[in-house]
Amino acid sequence: MIVQKNTILAIESSCDDTSAAVIRDGEVLSNVIETQEVHKEWGGIVPELASRTHQQKIVPVVDLALKKAGISKTELDAIAFTLGPGLIGSLMVGVSFAKGMAQALDIPIIAVHHMQAHILAHFIDEPKPSFPFLCLTVSGGHTQIVKVSDYDKFKIVGATLDDAAGEAFDKCGKLLGLPYPGGPLLDKLAQTGDKNKYKFTEPSVGELEFSFSGVKSSFLYFLQKETKENPNFIEENMADICASIQERIVTILIKKLLKASKKYQIKQLAIAGGVSANSALRSQLKDLEKKGYEIFIPDFQYCLDNAGMIAQTASFLYEKKVFTTQDVEPKARWSL
Ligand code: KG4
Ligand code: ZN
Repeated sequence: MIVQKNTILAIESSCDDTSAAVIRDGEVLSNVIETQEVHKEWGGIVPELASRTHQQKIVPVVDLALKKAGISKTELDAIAFTLGPGLIGSLMVGVSFAKGMAQALDIPIIAVHHMQAHILAHFIDEPKPSFPFLCLTVSGGHTQIVKVSDYDKFKIVGATLDDAAGEAFDKCGKLLGLPYPGGPLLDKLAQTGDKNKYKFTEPSVGELEFSFSGVKSSFLYFLQKETKENPNFIEENMADICASIQERIVTILIKKLLKASKKYQIKQLAIAGGVSANSALRSQLKDLEKKGYEIFIPDFQYCLDNAGMIAQTASFLYEKKVFTTQDVEPKARWSL
C-alpha cells in the first residue's frame, strides 16, 4: 500500500496505559507507553483512578512522543485517538485532548477502533500478512477469532461466551495471590514449571466458541482441595501450578484457531492483544510453522495497549480520508 505523505500523532487511553505515538509516511517514529501503577494495590483497574491518571500523564506523554520522533506540533497533519471500546472516563481524556489539540492546530481528527488497531499492528513491522488472514485477538476484555479480508474488512468468526483469555489469566493469578494484572506474572512464574503436572477442565462449547469460566472454577476447586490438605500447597508448587493453568488456557486458544484455519482454509495465522505477549502462546504458535502455517506475532511493544497501533490504523484511515468531526463521543462498547 502506498501511503500518502502524512505525519500523525496518535493517542491511546482506553484502559490503564497512557500512550502516544508519531507515524510519518507509514513509519512509526515513536511509541511512548506509560503504564499506570496505581491499580496494583487494588487487585484490578479502578476506572476513576484510571481517568485521573490519564489526565496527569497525557501532556508529558504526548510531549515525549513528539520529542522522540523529532517532530514539532506544527508538522502534524492529523491527530488520531482511540474512540472505543474501553473505559468511558479513560477514553474521554484521550478523545478530548486530541480534539482540543487538533482544533488549536487546525488539522483533522481520526477516530480509531481499539481492537481493529490491535489487529492492524501487524502492518507496523515486517513480515506483514497478506489478505485474508485469521487473527486471534486476546486481551483483557476480548477473545475473538477474526477473519481479516482487508484493512477495513473484519469478520468475527469465533468469540468467548463468558470471560476473555486475559481475564482468565488475571483471575487465576488473583486466586494464587498475585498482584493485578496476573497474566504477565503467571507467565514469568511458569517458566520453570512442569506444564503437565496438573490437569484442568476442557470446556465443551461450539466449534469456534471459547469459554473460560469453567476453567477458572475448576482451578478454584483444585486450589481449595489442595490447600485444605496442605496450607503451603501454592507456595510449594507455584511454578508447576502456573505452568499447568497456562498450558490449559493456551491449548484452548490454539485448538480453536486451528479449527478456524481448517474451516476457512486460511493458513496465515496471527495473534493480537495483551495475551499475545504470553511466551507459551508465542512459542506453541511458532512451532506450527513446521506444519506449514504462516505465523504472525507482533513485537512486544505492539502487543499490549499502545498508540503505535492506533497510529498505524490512522495512517490507513488518512489514506482514505476517513476523518471525524469535533462532536464525536467516545464509545465504551463498539463492535468490530
Ligand atoms: O490488550 P491489553 O493490553 O488491554 C486490553 O485491551 O485488555 O491486554 C491486557 C491483558 C491482561 O489481562 C493481561 O493480564 C494480559 O493481557 N497479559 C498477559 C501477558 N501479558 C499481558 N497474559 C498472559 N501472559 C502474558 N505474558
Ligand atoms: Zn487492548
